[in-house]
Amino acid sequence: MQAERFFAFNLTGEHKKEDMEFCCIICFPWEILTLKEHGRWKMDSIWSKTSKQKKRPSLEGDIQTDVAVIGGGITGILTAWHLEQAGIRTVILEADQIGGGQTKNTTAKITSQHGMFCNRFLEKKGEEKARNYVQANQEAVKEYKRIVREEGIDCDLTGCDSYVYSSDKEKLRKETEAARKLGINASFVEHIEIPVSCAGAVMFPHQAAFHPLKFLEALARNLTVYEDTLVTEVRGHQVKTSCGSVRADKIIFAAHFPFVNFPGMYFARMHQERSYVIALETEEKLKGMYIGEGKETLSFRQYDKYLLLGGQAHRTGENRTGGQYENLKKAAAEMYPQSQVTACWSAQDCITADGIPFIGRYSEERTDWYVATGFQKWGMSSAMVSAMLLRDMICGISNPYEDIFAPSRFSAEEIPQIMKGSGKAVKGLTKRFFHLPGGTADELLRGHGAVADTPQGKAGVYKTEEGKLCQVDIVCPHMGCELNWNPEELTWDCPCHGSRFDREGNLIDGPAQEGISHG
Ligand code: FES
Repeated sequence: MQAERFFAFNLTGEHKKEDMEFCCIICFPWEILTLKEHGRWKMDSIWSKTSKQKKRPSLEGDIQTDVAVIGGGITGILTAWHLEQAGIRTVILEADQIGGGQTKNTTAKITSQHGMFCNRFLEKKGEEKARNYVQANQEAVKEYKRIVREEGIDCDLTGCDSYVYSSDKEKLRKETEAARKLGINASFVEHIEIPVSCAGAVMFPHQAAFHPLKFLEALARNLTVYEDTLVTEVRGHQVKTSCGSVRADKIIFAAHFPFVNFPGMYFARMHQERSYVIALETEEKLKGMYIGEGKETLSFRQYDKYLLLGGQAHRTGENRTGGQYENLKKAAAEMYPQSQVTACWSAQDCITADGIPFIGRYSEERTDWYVATGFQKWGMSSAMVSAMLLRDMICGISNPYEDIFAPSRFSAEEIPQIMKGSGKAVKGLTKRFFHLPGGTADELLRGHGAVADTPQGKAGVYKTEEGKLCQVDIVCPHMGCELNWNPEELTWDCPCHGSRFDREGNLIDGPAQEGISHG
């Protein structure tokens, strides 16, 4: 890794420069500076900056195995590791490098406290299902601790309590009671250590937090991982990739968003959201980890000398105004006036209608395919739940949590989601054909992007700070919706199912499997 000069923005308005040993850089003076890497524009999280990953080979030729796992994020690696422990030959196919998708963007809280959910699940799902959901996640927290301890993994894992704060005291009391009914030793606390206005918080004890990429690198040490190996097609037991093929008895889709549209139709059953994180250097050292209740929530956790502040979530493709990092920066300036922002990054999450991930058989028609997706904002515990559940399903071991996560479940809560998704898709598709005359590329300000009229017709245009125009097709290759410009991240985002592309058209996030054309 090559060290570069590091700039930090002091929230009191004073800028300073420091030499740091991390590669890449961040924000000065709170502009979103991105770095192009492997043809993609991206920001780097604190995890990417503070760990090194070994480069692994690509697949060559055609091979056979018991299980092929698509996706080398935390879900894929954990699942493969558990399967190998059970004596099942497993290979992992990763399009980029391990942890290179959403795992590097997490806040890496390991907790069964998924926001304010216990009372809601009790009322909507009943006690048995709600208890199963909570207990599956409690076991996941314990399993992380066990693996780290028994494998001797150095990943900065720390035990800590988890809190959800709210201004509604009655709601907090009900949530505490519900959590206790579901078997959690939860308690209501009136005072918490973060400077937010609230009536208190619900506390779950004995949760944890860690460095996800250090953990992943250690766990993948003895696994068969092929990097830079993009899966292009899955048929029956055959997985085709950009550099060879794998024949497997079982296939697991663990690459964030399952990209095979039919069967399964996951694109209609989930939507994607983006959220933003800044890392602050402060004098504060939080002992617990926190999240607020409701839409305008903020998330807090400590890692080493950094306080990670997250929030500003929105549906992918619906960010017309930008300002998410600026808003987080303002919040940080009020709460921690002496702090310095030292990193910023964003994450993408798959959201299911009933708030429960899809883990299990991909569809009734493909009984040898499995899927793990829809983790909401709780990727770490959900990844471990997936790994343990899929291992048991593939080994033929009964698992009490199979039903609650089964993708084949149908919940009435899905109907509005499907209707809303369909509405977005229709709107996204028709926009392509009914476009009112807009601005021209010449009218664009430097550093801005927009859909514009060009000599070649309607196109997405970004004008660089140097005045160079970057022009791309704005038709999403997934199912044809029109892309929207995301001014915060300088990307083209799809409002239908959440695919994303950089300003040059390279694919960042699926379900699309290819980039958009440029010229
Ligand atoms: Fe489905 Fe764009 S992600 S149409």
